[in-house]
Amino acid sequence: MFGVAEFLRHYAQEQKLPQQDCDELYTLGLLHDIGYAFLEEPDYHQHETVGGEFLKKQNYPYWQEVYYHGVVNCPYQSRFLNLLNWADLHVDSKGNVVSYEERLADIARRHQTSSLTFNHAKQLVAELKAKGYE
Ligand SMILES: [Fe+2]
Repeated sequence: MFGVAEFLRHYAQEQKLPQQDCDELYTLGLLHDIGYAFLEEPDYHQHETVGGEFLKKQNYPYWQEVYYHGVVNCPYQSRFLNLLNWADLHVDSKGNVVSYEERLADIARRHQTSSLTFNHAKQLVAELKAKGYE
């Protein structure tokens, strides 16, 4: 979460986005996986919806970005959701900044290439590339 937050803040500063956007993207990065705090294996796949619903109750303005992060063919679309997914796929499980290919290899090692997790990540990378998020 810290790695994704730093990645987003770095991007926001590099793009000279307004300070409020920098702060909001940093906070979104920090909070995006908060759902894990309320779950245990094997329910980790629910962390997006559980985290999003928790933040919605707190009136967090970007709860939908948390709720829908990592979702393929997502019905909800926003710039911050694209940026969050882009950042999430460029920071590995240890917080290192990596390429899409390295991130997918990392996911494959932990979940296998036949897993839904891996295949969703692969599809999400294709969607993000098509939108210009390299
Ligand atoms: Fe996540």
